[in-house]
Amino acid sequence: MAHEKPEELLRLSDDTQGILDEHDLRPLWEVQEDFGTVIDDPEPGIWKWADIERAIDAIEADVPIAELPPGFQRRVAVPVNTSLGNAISNTIYVGVQTVSPGETAPAHRHSANALRFTIDGHEEMKTVVAGEEFPMRDNDLVTTPQWEWHDHVNDSDETAAWLDVLDLPLFLDSFNKQQVFENHELERQPVTKTQGYWDSQYGRGRPADERSNGEIPGPFEGIREATPPYRFGWNEMTESLRQRAANDEPDPHDGYSLAYANPATGKEPLFPTMSFRAQLLNEGPTDPHFHNATEVYFVIEGEGVTHVDDKALEWGKWDIFVVPPDGTHHHDPDGEAILLGMTDRPVLEAFNFYAEAEPSS
Ligand SMILES: [Fe+2]
Ligand SMILES: [Fe+2]
Repeated sequence: MAHEKPEELLRLSDDTQGILDEHDLRPLWEVQEDFGTVIDDPEPGIWKWADIERAIDAIEADVPIAELPPGFQRRVAVPVNTSLGNAISNTIYVGVQTVSPGETAPAHRHSANALRFTIDGHEEMKTVVAGEEFPMRDNDLVTTPQWEWHDHVNDSDETAAWLDVLDLPLFLDSFNKQQVFENHELERQPVTKTQGYWDSQYGRGRPADERSNGEIPGPFEGIREATPPYRFGWNEMTESLRQRAANDEPDPHDGYSLAYANPATGKEPLFPTMSFRAQLLNEGPTDPHFHNATEVYFVIEGEGVTHVDDKALEWGKWDIFVVPPDGTHHHDPDGEAILLGMTDRPVLEAFNFYAEAEPSS
């Protein structure tokens, strides 16, 4: 699909551009033009929420979604690894998206897998996926499997913000493949299902008659069971995390963790390309280790520091940080903290490439 060059259509104010440049953030419509290159030497890095918030507020003030050209209709601040990069890593992309009251980020679909992790949500802020409206409450995680139609509709009276996570760089940069992308003919896709429908298919109770797997469209039939559209409510996740902390032993490197399982299989990974965990750290520093998988973290709550080689990443609530492959790292929470851990490990494991060890000294 041919796109008009967005920079010819969009002018961020000098102030907004300055905030973005200063903090290694770029708008999505810009990095979208820049995919297809790998970051030579990804570095450990952290993006502080206070800086991200200034950036998303400034972009929101400059650019209504309705003014974005077709194909670029998402208002997102993207953390980039080194100022020349196009994403936080060579496999996983994260961005912080906002939708103002009354706005819609129009329906489209694409070959990359995506999910939303709600930062500042609302019952009336809905991400519509495969015909169902999923309310975006704080800390909810909603999947957007590849080739599913999705739009974001803010019927609340507050700006909503969330974390977008996609496997775009793996596909576009590392594999050097082309994205397949399509806009819906309507701004809002028809809501064809009642709220809770996808949970009735993949939740704790399942259809006892024939399963409706045929409902999940996809031009690319993978070897793994497709990830369904699904919302993981935060209340249930934290309750289960507390249960683990009360009864189980923590992992020496990742604390008490709970994987977001693919509802179709009941197992990790959530997507063949990306795995997600809620991690509760409350027993002092974890043991250092290194591996060839990338880890991206979002701080759900708490404060602490993650040491990566000789770098100390000091984090607090809603900060985003990245541990690149091969960096020796450990977490040191200040009391108790909960992180959302994201990794490309399933890609490496699929080809028997995964390696992990503790430093010898
Ligand atoms: Fe999308
Ligand atoms: Fe790790």
